Amino acid sequence: MKVLIINGSPRVGGNTSLALDEMVKVFESEDIETEVVLVGNKDVRGCIACRACAEKGKCVFNDVVNELALKFEEADGLVVASPVYKIAFG
Ligand SMILES: Cc1cc2nc3c(=O)[nH]c(=O)nc-3n(C[C@H](O)[C@H](O)[C@H](O)COP(=O)(O)O)c2cc1C
Repeated sequence: MKVLIINGSPRVGGNTSLALDEMVKVFESEDIETEVVLVGNKDVRGCIACRACAEKGKCVFNDVVNELALKFEEADGLVVASPVYKIAFG
């Protein structure tokens, strides 16, 4: 069994990574394989509803989304973690 863990933080070794490290330890103690992918520091294009993915099986924008799509296929479980980054002006 494998769990894919998506880290939405831009910070390598940040708080989200530290929290996920603890989660990975628990999965490993249960003999569950994990793979953590940091996406918060990557450029990701938004969907433009061109529907090319329905025909080609991948996005026309060849970014981390296409990498993750392959990993989704082989994963049995998914964890999505992200920090809250909100700045209030005024
Ligand atoms: C620019 C900025 C804005 C933030 N805004 C919020 C917020 O609105 N609410 C909140 O609870 N935490 C906020 N935080 C705190 C982060 O969510 C928190 O420190 C988080 O653990 C950071 O995770 P990271 O180290 O993986 O980036 C903010 C942090 C930063 C740097």
